[in-house]
Amino acid sequence: QLHHLESAVHAGHSRASESVEPVSCESLTASDHESPIRKFELTAARTSIDLDNGETVEAWTFNGLSPGPEIRVTEGDRVVVTLFNKDIEEGVTIHWHGIVVPCSQDGVAGVTQDAVKPGEQFTYTFVATSPGTYWYHSHQMSSVQAEKGLLGQFIVEPKEAEYPTDHDAAILLQRLDSSFLMNGKTGEAIVPGKPGDNVRLRLTNATNDTMEMLVDGAPYRIIALDGNAIHDPGLLESTSFNIGAGQRYDLLIEIPEQGKVVVGSVQEESLKITFGDGPEPSRAASRKLFSFVDYGTPMPDGRTEPLSFDQSFELKLGQNIFVSTINGKSFHEIPPMNVKKGDHVKITVKNEGGGDHPFHLHGHTFRVLSKNGEPLKGSPIYLDTILTQKDETYELYLVADNPGLWMVHCHNLQHASMGMSMMLNYE
Ligand code: C2O
Ligand code: CU
Repeated sequence: QLHHLESAVHAGHSRASESVEPVSCESLTASDHESPIRKFELTAARTSIDLDNGETVEAWTFNGLSPGPEIRVTEGDRVVVTLFNKDIEEGVTIHWHGIVVPCSQDGVAGVTQDAVKPGEQFTYTFVATSPGTYWYHSHQMSSVQAEKGLLGQFIVEPKEAEYPTDHDAAILLQRLDSSFLMNGKTGEAIVPGKPGDNVRLRLTNATNDTMEMLVDGAPYRIIALDGNAIHDPGLLESTSFNIGAGQRYDLLIEIPEQGKVVVGSVQEESLKITFGDGPEPSRAASRKLFSFVDYGTPMPDGRTEPLSFDQSFELKLGQNIFVSTINGKSFHEIPPMNVKKGDHVKITVKNEGGGDHPFHLHGHTFRVLSKNGEPLKGSPIYLDTILTQKDETYELYLVADNPGLWMVHCHNLQHASMGMSMMLNYE
């Protein structure tokens, strides 16, 4: 039953997607063609990987690796990626998680393209307009394929650095079989650096679980969420943060005069990133949990959201052991959110089921307006994936400026395959 639902989700055989016109995709504009071109090739294949803990995993990889190669480009580059499928019978696609691309390039099997079969290829092209930390993963039966290893990091560097940075390290957390990995390793990840250096740590959670991370040894700032800069981020100390499945946190940390910085998982002791080479810091005896609700400061020009919306939707996320639902229904039965180009859209998401549901929207970045009825007090917060926890309610705002047919789903990909998926559709 689960498998059936999953393939239906990703083959797009749903009432939601059948009841709408074929995807209309905006083409690249002339000026896009003047951007510098960056070409990449990714070959998906079955590969047996020897982990550094001695285990061997029958993984699915890009270019023999899981995570696949890190793709790093500069803001404004035109990215051209050719996907080859060597021998994955189920077919493969690539979805550019968090990057706003034309819908024809979104990589959702059965919705924006057919899955690429063994021996076939598909070329994606888009302009990387917004700097930030993103990732890519297969979106054909994604709960299976991402977990098998078909994923990687995608970094868009800004044309002009916003912060002085001596080291820029991207680290992806994933679960392969039963092992937690950081950039493919089970042991600790070591980032180079000497006292006084500023390290930008780009953390991507590619697991299905919320990870609570604690920084010991130095104060730090959270400078971006899901690739979107925080305005005026303050220093945090003895503070952990919950990074939900699919989310990215960018940290800026100065390596102290003596000592080591440890960014570690609270639940999984072995999962830690260290830099500097002094003595190991002791773990904070007590810790606060980061909240974006009052972090940073508002933009000087004040509110940017409208006072009324062209479209408002309310989505209640629910769950029992058999299905994950939105408004009591699962994928096949959930009507799409229909919008028109230019609409100002409000989406209210309520977590009624308990459990963590990181709510992800393709093709758009949304602004968080409020949490549990309270407007945000600090920096404007823009995300593509919002972690919702038991009984929380968030109001999200977006401008419908990217026509097409887009997936909206929980990024616990098991929940997505068990029904917590729907579509955003432009009429
Ligand atoms: Cu990373 Cu449809 O998701
Ligand atoms: Cu969920």
